[in-house]
Amino acid sequence: MIGKPAEMENGMIIAVDGPAASGKGTLAAGLARHYGLPHLDTGLLYRAVGRSVAALEGQPGFEAAAIRAARAISGTGFDGTELSGAEIGVLASKVAVIAEVRSALFDLQRRFALQPGGAVLDGRDIGTRIAPEADVKLFIVADSKARMERRARQLEARGLPVDRYALYHQIEERDARDMANPNGGFYPAPDAHLLDTTLLDIEAALRAAVAIVDGVMARKA
Ligand code: C5P
Repeated sequence: MIGKPAEMENGMIIAVDGPAASGKGTLAAGLARHYGLPHLDTGLLYRAVGRSVAALEGQPGFEAAAIRAARAISGTGFDGTELSGAEIGVLASKVAVIAEVRSALFDLQRRFALQPGGAVLDGRDIGTRIAPEADVKLFIVADSKARMERRARQLEARGLPVDRYALYHQIEERDARDMANPNGGFYPAPDAHLLDTTLLDIEAALRAAVAIVDGVMARKA
């Protein structure tokens, strides 16, 4: 942690949105460390719901079970490694189109965002729906092939088997479903700052994100 500039003493909310495997989670975690803020990866909530209804995929009870599972979630302490698989990501995007699932997860995310001292949240709709009042909004983009390669390396580093062709199609399928989600709010907020990380490694992307946050907060001050 580098320490908070004076204008950030009352806490700030940073919203980090972007498509699958854009690097938004790693960036959000880096920003949280840099500014000493708590971090919530909101994708984990949808992944947890998706995983709990995996056995019902394609069956009539899927939607109702997903709504029940979302309503049963009461905290944010998930094990990210257990939920990181590409198939769970696809399932997450299937439960994320259900309006009642989104509304069941809304308060939890909103409370996290508004906690005293500020917070960093990453997801799809943080800047548009969960925390439209966020002090700084980042919308992370990266070319689909670069995103696939990054996710493949992350999975390989965890010892998981990777089929790059299948992974590329899973990412495209998820993007298409997320962008078409009528309940999703997945688009850059009008006041979001776009950051393209295609050609940036994580250190360079984090430096760019910190420069945006510092710039916005300095202008606010
Ligand atoms: O961020 P991650 O890729 O882990 O998210 C998994 C899925 O959860 C996304 O593809 C999306 O469908 C859903 N999601 C969402 N809104 C969020 C976070 C995730 O709809 N804020």
